Amino acid sequence: MTEEPQKNETGASVPEESAEPRRDFITGASAILVGALATLAPIGAAVVALIDPIRRVSSASDMVLVARRAAVPEDGSPRKFTVTADRKDAWATYSDTPVGAVYLRSVGDEIRALNVVCPHAGCFVGVAPDDSRFACPCHRSSFDLDGVVNDPASPSPRDMDALEVEVRNGDEVWVRFQNFLPGREEKTPV
Ligand code: FES
Repeated sequence: MTEEPQKNETGASVPEESAEPRRDFITGASAILVGALATLAPIGAAVVALIDPIRRVSSASDMVLVARRAAVPEDGSPRKFTVTADRKDAWATYSDTPVGAVYLRSVGDEIRALNVVCPHAGCFVGVAPDDSRFACPCHRSSFDLDGVVNDPASPSPRDMDALEVEVRNGDEVWVRFQNFLPGREEKTPV
């Protein structure tokens, strides 16, 4: 069987020897492309690693001064406070940046803190108009004032996230502020 002669774009036959350099060119170009990709992949990973800390910094986990004790109602009703803290990313530190919010509540001599973020899907939980419970506006999870799920129809997989509290110098309410992943039964720090 005879081999079909190679043709150019006008349909004219191309001599066998002129097709060879074209194959060499394609092989060479492919090698350069593969080499370039192999070089660029680690650079891309380095850029992602450099940017990643910005995305990850979303909360502080140290003790943070949140309020004066006198600002927390003595009758046991919850009050919401914004939490501000110094925040760092790969390049800078930002002072007094809002990182979240907590509900503080007096229970006897104790102050208790709950993260306001709903463990179901991350909405901010509100307080019922009569201050008798917490209610999430998104999918109607309901919690008692200790943050415990009190309605079996609530989709929240766990109770509200309690946070460690210290009262210092008699009047300063410090909270170990932390966010946790929503949608899980266990508290997993973000
Ligand atoms: Fe609160 Fe869904 S986010 S119930």
